[in-house]
Amino acid sequence: MSIVVTGATGQLGRLVVDELLERVPAGEVVAVVRNRAKAADLAGLGVRIRVADYTEPRTLEGVFEAGDRVLLISSNAMEDNTAQHAAVVDAAAKAGVALLAYTSVLGGSAATFRIAAHHAATEQLILESGLPYVFLRNGWYNENYSGNLGFVLKSGVVLGSAGEGRIASASRADYAAAAAAVLTGEGDKTVYELSGDQAWTFADLADEVSRQTGRTIAYRHLPAAEYSKIMTDAGVPARDAESVADADLGIARGELAAVTGDLRRLIGRPTTTIADSIAAALKN
Ligand SMILES: NC(=O)c1ccc[n+]([C@@H]2O[C@H](COP(=O)([O-])OP(=O)(O)OC[C@H]3O[C@@H](n4cnc5c(N)ncnc54)[C@H](OP(=O)(O)O)[C@@H]3O)[C@@H](O)[C@H]2O)c1
Repeated sequence: MSIVVTGATGQLGRLVVDELLERVPAGEVVAVVRNRAKAADLAGLGVRIRVADYTEPRTLEGVFEAGDRVLLISSNAMEDNTAQHAAVVDAAAKAGVALLAYTSVLGGSAATFRIAAHHAATEQLILESGLPYVFLRNGWYNENYSGNLGFVLKSGVVLGSAGEGRIASASRADYAAAAAAVLTGEGDKTVYELSGDQAWTFADLADEVSRQTGRTIAYRHLPAAEYSKIMTDAGVPARDAESVADADLGIARGELAAVTGDLRRLIGRPTTTIADSIAAALKN
C-alpha cells in the first residue's frame, strides 16, 4: 500500500511529494510520471517511480495497487482532458485503490466556464467508478499572476476580462499541503472547496504590484475576444488563450471568489496572500 501521486514532475505534483516526504518515509511514496529522467531527483530521494501517460491507457496497467491512496493531478491539456482522466480512473478502479483524490475546480459543477466543465465530467466519472474519493476543488493559484509579472512590468498594465470579479487565490504550496493532508488521512470530508483567505480584483492586483515596485501599474479590462487575441499574438496557443479569457468571464461572474475556509482549516494555517506571492516573485 502506497501513496501515489500522478503528475508528480509538474509544479503542483512536486510540491505534493515534498509535503508527503515530511510526513511519511520516502519508500511509501510513488511518483507517476511521463518522463523517468525528469524524476531522477525524486528517485534519488527514495521515491518509487512509475512511468505512465494518461493518453496511453496500456501504460497505466499495473501503476496502481489494491489499497493505494492515489492523487490524480489533472492534466494540463486545458481542454479535452476528460478521456485522459477516464483512463486513470479506470486503472484505479481495476486495481481497487483505497482512495482516489482528484484536483478539481472551486465550485465543481456550479462553475460554468469551459475548463470547469472538464473537471465536472471527471468528478462524475469518479463518482460512477464507486471508488472512495476526495474532490480537492482548487481555486486559482496565486502563481497564475505572480508568475506573469514580466509582462506586467514591461507593459505597465494588468490585462484581463474579469471586470471587477474577485479571485480567492492561494499558493500552489497551500494546495499541495492540502492534498498531502488528505492523502495521509488528516481530512474528514469528501469534497473540499479550497480557496484563499482573501478575494481580490485585478485592480487590487495592479495596485499591489504598483505598491511593491513603486511603478504605476493599471488594470485594463478587455472584451474576452480582444484579450484572447493579445495572448495569441504573444505566442499562447489559441485554444489556451480562449480558455484563459473564458475563465476570466467566470471570474467576472464571481465563480472563483468564494472564501470558504476549507483550505485554511485543512493546512492548519492562513493561506499565502497574493501580496506575499508577488513579493516572492519579485525577489527572483
Ligand atoms: N488552479 C489553478 O489555478 C490551475 C492553474 C493551472 C493549471 N491547473 C490544473 O492543475 C494541474 C496541476 O497544476 P500544475 O501547476 O502542477 O501544472 P503543470 O506544472 O503543468 O503539471 C501538469 C502535470 O501533468 C502531467 N501530465 C500532463 N499530461 C499528462 C499525460 N498525458 N500523462 C501523464 N501526465 C501528464 C505533466 O507531466 P510532465 O511533468 O511530464 O509535463 C505534469 O506533471 C494542471 O495540470 C491543471 O489541470 C490549475
